[in-house]
Amino acid sequence: MSDKIGIGLIGCGGISAVHRDGWLAASDIARMVATCDVNRQSAELRKEELNAETAYEDYRLLLKRDDLTAVDLCLPHDLHAEVAIAAAQAGKHILCEKPIAVNQEEARRMIHAAEQNAVTLMIAYCERYSNAHVAMKRLVEAGEIGKPFLLRIDHSQWVDYPAGHWINDPTKLGGGVVAGSGPHRLDMLRWFGGEVRRVAARAVNTGLTQLGGEDTAVIALEFDSGAIGEMTCTWSARRYPWYEGFLVFGRGGMVHNIGGVQLSRNGGDFTPVPLPHDDAAGFREEIAHFLSCIQTGATPLTSGQEALKTLQLVEAVYTAIKSSNWVDVAAFKR
Ligand SMILES: NC(=O)c1ccc[n+]([C@@H]2O[C@H](COP(=O)([O-])OP(=O)(O)OC[C@H]3O[C@@H](n4cnc5c(N)ncnc54)[C@H](O)[C@@H]3O)[C@@H](O)[C@H]2O)c1
Repeated sequence: MSDKIGIGLIGCGGISAVHRDGWLAASDIARMVATCDVNRQSAELRKEELNAETAYEDYRLLLKRDDLTAVDLCLPHDLHAEVAIAAAQAGKHILCEKPIAVNQEEARRMIHAAEQNAVTLMIAYCERYSNAHVAMKRLVEAGEIGKPFLLRIDHSQWVDYPAGHWINDPTKLGGGVVAGSGPHRLDMLRWFGGEVRRVAARAVNTGLTQLGGEDTAVIALEFDSGAIGEMTCTWSARRYPWYEGFLVFGRGGMVHNIGGVQLSRNGGDFTPVPLPHDDAAGFREEIAHFLSCIQTGATPLTSGQEALKTLQLVEAVYTAIKSSNWVDVAAFKR
């Protein structure tokens, strides 16, 4: 029997293709033992690519295996809680795609199940592991831009899945773009700006795509620190390239990620910040961090508790979308 950490991949659709590359990069310490997808072809494809032993259609059969230490869940949002709780009860450590769940009640049950069964629960907020964001975070923490007073984050993408896909169903996604790509951006704002005190928001469905929820949203944020923030996200950017811009303005400078990480101090010219590696999205680093947490027992940077806080912010934003007033985030920390 191999002494490598045995992994099971559950959900072999879109995002699992980049997790695959992360697992292949970690093959010196982890090995993919089994894959699972209700679509057998998808499970078989990842099984072949990852050199796994078995492909399943039923995750419960995969969880019965003794040679699995951990599972990687790349599933629709409404399945995160069900499968993560079953995995925890089977004694498997869990890496689960973002957001943690579609509501706080499910998220809390996941966290409780992981605690009860003494397994690691990490939510795959890959942006926190991207080399650009790690570099930006180090600069901000080192005081290179002084105290941040304004944080701006944008996401533009064309997301048009065929009718019947789970992303189009707000009950499976947890809403629209704010529940889809929004959690990444809100998580980044929390990571850099600290906790958010209150939010105001507007959202629309332009009718350009099949999406059942909102496809476009604008959010204003006020942080406990006194800083303010702004987030814009759309999945209806048909003629516009994928864009993710993040700008942090401080009293002594500014750092942003447009055209690579760029730093300006005290009104000086922007200079490019060298990055340590080419993992722009952070998936390799994310998987390496998960494995390290399993080995050392350390709490992941993006733990279940941390992801719950981002979910509380998502819920506050949805309330703000329906309100003409600012909404206090504290009301969602229940
Ligand atoms: N980090 C990122 O940048 C990023 C990007 C895209 C998606 N995601 C996240 O990844 C997750 C999955 O999204 P996706 O885009 O890969 O979706 P997807 O639809 O491409 O893949 C989901 C897969 O799950 C399978 N599935 C559904 N029910 C199942 C079940 N009961 N058992 C086993 N397999 C089942 C489907 O057949 C499908 O292959 C979501 O949480 C999403 O938010 C993250």
